[in-house]
Amino acid sequence: MLLQLNNIFKWVQSGGSRIFLLKDINLTIEEGEFISIMGPSGSGKTTLLNVIGMLDDFNEGEYTFLDESVHTLKEKYRINLYKQYIGFVFQAYHLMDELTVYENIEMPLLFKKYKTAERKALVADILDRFNIVGKKDLFPSQLSGGQQQLVGIARALISKPKLILADEPTGNLNSKQGEEIMELFKQLNDEGVTIVQVTHSEKNATYGSRIINLLDGRMTKN
Ligand SMILES: Nc1ncnc2c1ncn2[C@@H]1O[C@H](COP(=O)(O)OP(=O)(O)O)[C@@H](O)[C@H]1O
Ligand SMILES: [Mg+2]
Repeated sequence: MLLQLNNIFKWVQSGGSRIFLLKDINLTIEEGEFISIMGPSGSGKTTLLNVIGMLDDFNEGEYTFLDESVHTLKEKYRINLYKQYIGFVFQAYHLMDELTVYENIEMPLLFKKYKTAERKALVADILDRFNIVGKKDLFPSQLSGGQQQLVGIARALISKPKLILADEPTGNLNSKQGEEIMELFKQLNDEGVTIVQVTHSEKNATYGSRIINLLDGRMTKN
């Protein structure tokens, strides 16, 4: 088991009442799964992904990640945990405009104790794998959306995470670029990386092995 959410509730206080963002989420994810989270806009998909990624906290319930009780961890330890095991891919890429492709991809390694030579080797490998060696000295604004997303995924993968969390990763791409990203996810999943993606696309969901449907913050039966 990679992670488990038990009876997770998340709410925000508004005047005298609670607005629930997540209601009674119970979810177990095994290593090697490829899961798609679906549901209408505002149903809590991003919130759930952020809870799984430890970027958002929650008000009630228990979260276990690789035998660690996330809900009881001190912040510093929690940050170390997700930096070590989780890679994030966002719809809007979130690349640093003033850094080159190379520097963007190298970034997560700077937070860890990699030596310069190790960093160089890792970045070179991933540039090669993603066929973007020729782009390494360009800035994000000089790339197409599809290429920027490839760089975003390369950056998410550089520190070899066990889990990739992707929030509508093809949302800004044309269908061919989107398919390439999905094929890449499938390949990574075949290599053992666990993937949880938020998607609106039935077609993208078919790349995964399981669908979680959300409605008003609650998981609905399939
Ligand atoms: N910090 C917040 N305060 C108040 N409401 C929020 C907050 N974050 C999200 N919401 C609301 O919670 C609901 C779920 O949001 P979100 O997880 O972004 O949905 P989705 O990704 O499915 O579109 C939405 O109605 C959103 O407006
Ligand atoms: Mg969202």
